[in-house]
Amino acid sequence: MYIVPKLDDYSPEALDRAVTELRQALSREEASISSQSEWKEFRDRWLARKNGILTQLNNVWLKPSPPDLKRTVGQVINALHPEIEHFVMNGQSRVEDIRTVLGSLSKDILASERLDITLPGIRRPIGVKHPVLRVMDEIVAVFKAMGYSVGKGPEVETDYYNFESLNFPPNHPARDTQDTLFIAGQEGKPARDRLMLRTHTSPVQIRTMEQQPPPVRIIIPGKVHRNDPLDATHSPVFHQVEGLAVDTNITFCDLKGTLDHAMKALFGSSVKTRFYPSFFPFTEPSADMQVSCIFCGGKGCRKCKFSGWIELLGCGMVDPNVFEFVKQYGYDSSKISGFAFGMGVDRLALLKYEVEGIQMFFEGDVRFLEQFA
Ligand code: PHE
Repeated sequence: MYIVPKLDDYSPEALDRAVTELRQALSREEASISSQSEWKEFRDRWLARKNGILTQLNNVWLKPSPPDLKRTVGQVINALHPEIEHFVMNGQSRVEDIRTVLGSLSKDILASERLDITLPGIRRPIGVKHPVLRVMDEIVAVFKAMGYSVGKGPEVETDYYNFESLNFPPNHPARDTQDTLFIAGQEGKPARDRLMLRTHTSPVQIRTMEQQPPPVRIIIPGKVHRNDPLDATHSPVFHQVEGLAVDTNITFCDLKGTLDHAMKALFGSSVKTRFYPSFFPFTEPSADMQVSCIFCGGKGCRKCKFSGWIELLGCGMVDPNVFEFVKQYGYDSSKISGFAFGMGVDRLALLKYEVEGIQMFFEGDVRFLEQFA
């Protein structure tokens, strides 16, 4: 940075050299400024009344100059004044140019990054539970409150678990009641190991008893498959909730009491239940349970086909033949007994939400599903 030199020699050549040095410094410094604040510093350094370089020239060059040269030195300094001012003004307009360039640049940037905060945002639709799952969870919750634990099992099942251990002997006509979807290419396997899509959740009864000794209280929600052609009330995929209770002295009364309580918890305390004889290979005796129509209260309406009753589930006392298959796990039918039930979930969801056809549940049509949000 330029410092005003003392002049020992006031010859015209020496003065000339000093002025040239000063001019070079002035133009160098002016060229190096690139911001408003640098420019201000530059201006003050050269022009400030108090100790600016121009003022210093008077003190350092003029005052100590020989009296006969004072006039010349004064003229030199006076001539420098407008030169310095010229550079200061130049610097100012250069910095202003830079500012306007930067300003327009940032305007472009601002314009390109403009964000209209008044625009409505993109709303992500909030997912909700599928109506079938909702009903399934409601049923499970009722049994959980009674101390049942929740179990699960595979959807691809062996012949042994789906049929044989549930007292459907090989080739027994009872198997025909459940049109089964078999996995292809299983012929090389022993019959009981062949795979199929489970036709009901009952195989999980056996799987549960293999896993834990009595007592058992378990509720099993799950997906099942049957080779049923699709119509308004049938689908090759549907859902069941299975229940199993095994303990000493479990009677049909416990079965009736438990299910009656569950139905009242699900549909309200005024609902009635009734049981009438049925057949399942794995329960004896077996029953179908009906509830008084939850829509008309039993008077008769379209939903209950004007009978006043709606059939909801199959149930019964665990057949001693079933316990034989899990004897080695602590199930001795001379000491323990149990009940089981299985209910279709989709049919209940159809009734509850007044859905026209079961296929609606599985098509994944958002317009349908949205109604449950
Ligand atoms: N698994 C039977 C069905 O799918 C229902 C059932 C379960 C019946 C448990 C009795 C006991 O039809």
